[in-house]
Amino acid sequence: MGVKIVDTCLRDGHQSLIATRLSTEDILKVATHLDKAGYHALEVWGGATFDACLRFLDEDPWERLRLIRKACPNTKLQMLFRGQNILGYRHYSDELVEKFVQKSLENGIDIIRVFDALNDIRNLKSAIDACIKYGGHCQIALSYTTSPVHTIQYYVELAKEVEKLGGQSLCIKDMAGVLLPDAAYELVSELKANCSLPIELHTHCTGGIAEMTILKAIEAGVDIVDTALSPFSGGTSQPCTEALCYVLRGTDKDPKLDLAECRKGTAILTEIKDKFLADGVLNPKALTVNPRILRYQVPGGMLSNLMSQLKGQGAMDKYEEVLREIPRVREDLGYPPLVTPLSQMVGTQAVMNILAGERYKMVPKEINDYLKGLYGQAPAPVNEDVRKKIIGDAVVITHRPADDIEPEFDAMKAKYGDICESDEDVLSCALFENVAVKFLENRRKKANKEADEVVEFNVYIGGN
Ligand code: CO
Repeated sequence: MGVKIVDTCLRDGHQSLIATRLSTEDILKVATHLDKAGYHALEVWGGATFDACLRFLDEDPWERLRLIRKACPNTKLQMLFRGQNILGYRHYSDELVEKFVQKSLENGIDIIRVFDALNDIRNLKSAIDACIKYGGHCQIALSYTTSPVHTIQYYVELAKEVEKLGGQSLCIKDMAGVLLPDAAYELVSELKANCSLPIELHTHCTGGIAEMTILKAIEAGVDIVDTALSPFSGGTSQPCTEALCYVLRGTDKDPKLDLAECRKGTAILTEIKDKFLADGVLNPKALTVNPRILRYQVPGGMLSNLMSQLKGQGAMDKYEEVLREIPRVREDLGYPPLVTPLSQMVGTQAVMNILAGERYKMVPKEINDYLKGLYGQAPAPVNEDVRKKIIGDAVVITHRPADDIEPEFDAMKAKYGDICESDEDVLSCALFENVAVKFLENRRKKANKEADEVVEFNVYIGGN
C-alpha cells in the first residue's frame, strides 16, 4: 500500500520557518488546492499557531479552524496537543482538557496528535479519553530523544501501553531532527512487530538527514510520513512533499498525490514565502543545514533561543560552553526529551549554570517545579544531590500532577464573561490569558465602534 502523507505547511512548516506568521487569509488561498491533492491529513493547528493568531495576527484561532474546515471538506484536519498542557505550558485540569478536545473536534479537527514532553502516559490519559468520547481519532506521539534510557525497547514498551490506553495510531515525534536513518529503520521495524497501530514519522530537516531517515522508515514499513510542500519544506521544517512523491513514483509506496494540485498550492505558497523572505521574517539561516544539532542533540529552535539569550546578556563567547552544559543538565534531570516546555527549561538552566559560574546557584521556577514532580515522572532517576540543592526538603509528588488541579473552566467564564461570546473564547482565555483577553477586548471595542457608526448613520438619515 502507498505511504500516506500528512502535509504540515499550515502548521509546523510555517512555525519552523516563519515563526508561525501565516495569516488565515494566506492559508485560505492555498487550502482548496491542498484539499484536492489527496493527503491523508493536513496539519493545521497547535500551540504556536493558536498563540500567534491571538498575539501577533489579531485573529481568532477558532475562526481560522472553522474557515479551513469549510475550505477543506475532503481532507482530515489534524492538530498537535500537549497532553495535560493542552496548548499551553502548565498542567490544566482534566475538565479543561476534555472541554478543549470537545471544542476542537466540534470546530473541525479530525485527528488529535497528543504528546507529553516526558512521555509520562498519565499526562496523556484525559486527552485520549476525551478524544475517544467525542469521536475524534486519537494519535499518540512518542517524544523521540537519545539517552541511555531511551532505547528501542523503551519505545516499544511505551507503544504497547499507548495501545492499551486506546490510542488509535502512533507517531514517532522527532522534534529535534536527530533520528538517524538506521535507527529509524530499527525503531519502525520493532514498533511494527510489537504493536498493531499505524505508525507515523514526524521529523525535521535541521540536521540534514530527514530525507534519508524518512526513506529508511518507509522501507521499514512506516504507514504515514509528515512532509511539507516545497516552499515551506527543508531547513528547520519537514522534508519536501513533491520530492518524496517523485522518489516513490512507480513503487508500491507511491502516495499517489495529485501533483497538479500540489503545484498550484506551491505556486501560491511561493509568493507568500517570498513576501516573508523580503521583510526578513524568514531568516535564510532557518533554511541552512545545521549538523551541529546531531552533535549536541539539541533542537534547532533551542539553538537560536540560546543564541538570543546569550546575545542579550552580552555573553556570546559562552555559547560553546552552554552547549556542553546542556547534556549535563539533562542527565541531572533524568534525561527529559528536549521538547516544549522542557527544551526551554533545560536551555535556560544551562545558561544560568554557566553565567553564574556555579551550577544550580540560580534556578528558574519551572525547574524547581519539575524537581517537585509537578511535570510528571522523569524518564530516568534525577540526580538527588542536585534535587536537594535546589528544593531542599520540599515535598516531591509521585502521583499524576493534574490530580491536584481543581476544575477551572467556570471560574474563567465568570472572570471574563463580559468579553467572551462562546465557550471557545473562554478556552482561549484559560490557555493564553493575557493575549486572549487583549484580543477579545479589542474585538469588543471594534464591534462597539461599528455599532456606534450604524447608530450615527441612522440618526443622520433620520435627521433628514
Ligand atoms: Co515538529
